[in-house]
Amino acid sequence: MLNRIKKLKNIFEQKFSDTGLIAGMFAAPGRVNIIGEHTDYNDGFVLPVAINRNIIMAAQLRTDKKIKIYSEEFDQKLEFDLNNISRNEKNSWSNYILGVIKEFQKRGKKLQGINIAFTGDIPIGSGLSSSAALEVAAAVTIANMHNINITKVKLALLCKRAENDFVGVASGIMDQYISALGQKNRALFIDCKSNQFEAIPFVTDTYKIVMCDTRVKRKLVDSEYNQRRKECKEAVLFYKENLRSNINSLRDVNKEEMEKTYDQLFNYSAPVAKRARHVITENIRVKKSVEALREKDFVKLGKLMNQSHSSLSNDFEVSCKELDLIVELARGIKGTIGARMTGAGFGGVTVNLVHRDYLEKFKKIVRAGYEKKVGKKPYIYISDPENGAKSLKEFGENDEY
Ligand code: GLA
Repeated sequence: MLNRIKKLKNIFEQKFSDTGLIAGMFAAPGRVNIIGEHTDYNDGFVLPVAINRNIIMAAQLRTDKKIKIYSEEFDQKLEFDLNNISRNEKNSWSNYILGVIKEFQKRGKKLQGINIAFTGDIPIGSGLSSSAALEVAAAVTIANMHNINITKVKLALLCKRAENDFVGVASGIMDQYISALGQKNRALFIDCKSNQFEAIPFVTDTYKIVMCDTRVKRKLVDSEYNQRRKECKEAVLFYKENLRSNINSLRDVNKEEMEKTYDQLFNYSAPVAKRARHVITENIRVKKSVEALREKDFVKLGKLMNQSHSSLSNDFEVSCKELDLIVELARGIKGTIGARMTGAGFGGVTVNLVHRDYLEKFKKIVRAGYEKKVGKKPYIYISDPENGAKSLKEFGENDEY
């Protein structure tokens, strides 16, 4: 990361003149979810890790009320007025930062003008949460520059608000949460109802977390995501009427209750019954995965990941042929102990647990098999669980912010 930090500092100095005010650099990582998919907005459980790909941001306060932002990726420099922040339809990338600024203002924080330059190596639109990382990087930057004391949980919630209300995407809390709170060599077991979390050691010399990027643009993802949310709500209403009135989310329904009423719900709506079955069984799989990690039983974790994929593909129906193909290719390789789609679905990445001695073989077979059928090679990334958002005090010195 050292070279990228130096490069960003140079870019910042080229694009902006020194205001003499407080300056700093910050980073926020992307994420991959080990297990617990489409459970966060159902008050359920997730188990993500932060990865070794980041958004890095350099900033300095200004004496006026202007916000100037330079994106290296888009090679665009935009200017806004702190007193008049509204959505930018033309350059949508800026909304992730503007939305965060607006949220601080909504909380009564008096902000100063700021110059920002940022860059990143999280592939955009691949399902590794580059947008949440951009929000979290912006929030950490704004908070630090203005000496605003905010817990990381509150910071993640603020970013989620920005995404839901300003950017306009009805995501759950997982992505912002893990980008803000990730820990090295730990997965975060997050209870998305209470917002409490526990860092579970994810330490193994034998297995590696491998991500395969289908490079499929996730076209339908927004409408299908909202559709799934709607179906889950319908299921809750059904259970509330037919089981107990104190059911407020799918989290409140146990497996026996779901199974007992499955046919009845299926007759009412087959998709709704299947969506509910996925969420209810996925929550159980997350808890079992936490147990597996505690027992250092990665083979058990891998099996649960495999089950999660089947459930997402057959019941929740958010996979696609490219994701299924990569999962199938990966599972065919000795050394792969778990393979599943991860994130919202309809493209994006898979997450795999692969024995380190089989990594090269894995890459070769998955690349060749995928290219043969899809006509392009998937991108493959490997990462250990990393720390969440941080201040980059000196070049190369990554202090927790
Ligand atoms: C997207 C959302 C998350 C979560 C996942 C599915 O990544 O941003 O909040 O709902 O999909 O698990």
